[in-house]
Amino acid sequence: MTPGGRADNPLRGNLDMTLREWVERYQREVVFENVHYRGVLTWKNVLDLWVYQEIIWETGVECVVEIGVRHGGTTLWLSDTLQKFRGDDTLVVAIDLEAPSLALPANVRFLRGDSIADETVAQVRELCAGRKTMVMADGNHAAEHVLQELRLYGALVSDGCYFIAEDGIVDVMEWAQFTPGPLVAARRFVAETDEFMIDHSREKFLLTYAPDGFLKRVKPARPG
Ligand SMILES: C[S@@+](CC[C@H](N)C(=O)[O-])C[C@H]1O[C@@H](n2cnc3c(N)ncnc32)[C@H](O)[C@@H]1O
Repeated sequence: MTPGGRADNPLRGNLDMTLREWVERYQREVVFENVHYRGVLTWKNVLDLWVYQEIIWETGVECVVEIGVRHGGTTLWLSDTLQKFRGDDTLVVAIDLEAPSLALPANVRFLRGDSIADETVAQVRELCAGRKTMVMADGNHAAEHVLQELRLYGALVSDGCYFIAEDGIVDVMEWAQFTPGPLVAARRFVAETDEFMIDHSREKFLLTYAPDGFLKRVKPARPG
């Protein structure tokens, strides 16, 4: 066997894998059972988490709205990251239909409810008022639902900050049972507003679960 051959290759035969094969493997074997933050399941592409902390640092946000909590690993990670970067006066507004079964830190406010219900949006608006805010949507991924979230929560995103529409990977991979999904919603949204642009520079690792999903506010929100 040559030095570059399979037997002594630390990638154990995966060196010629395509991006499609990598995503399928990550989805099938890793993301749902094998990614943890402080011992709590975290349903994320970990390359995206690195980009998220770069965004949080660069924009200086002090409030993150997380739509879709599930086990809460990402919620904990957001809580710690904000606390480390910006101190105690930070806030994660975490929204889900069901409460996670973990004790949430002091800078997390959990809201149980449908993300697009009037009462949920009103509570989030009140909690985020006066805070530099970004939004991450990782709840119901149907395009129509995400488009409504973009319209309702886009107004809460501060100048220069982001609305991250997660899991547009389903559209790219053409996983029929989940499409049309977030990528379709993001494209429709930027076609109807000049306040946001898709920031492809945030897809630098290529292997993102949010293709076309990093929406940056480039114009102030219109009043009303
Ligand atoms: C993909 S999981 C979230 C994963 C989590 N963000 C993470 O990084 O580990 C989706 C979650 O969205 C919640 N969800 C689905 N539809 C929702 C809705 N309309 N409003 C609020 N939460 C919703 C589900 O209950 C589920 O817990």
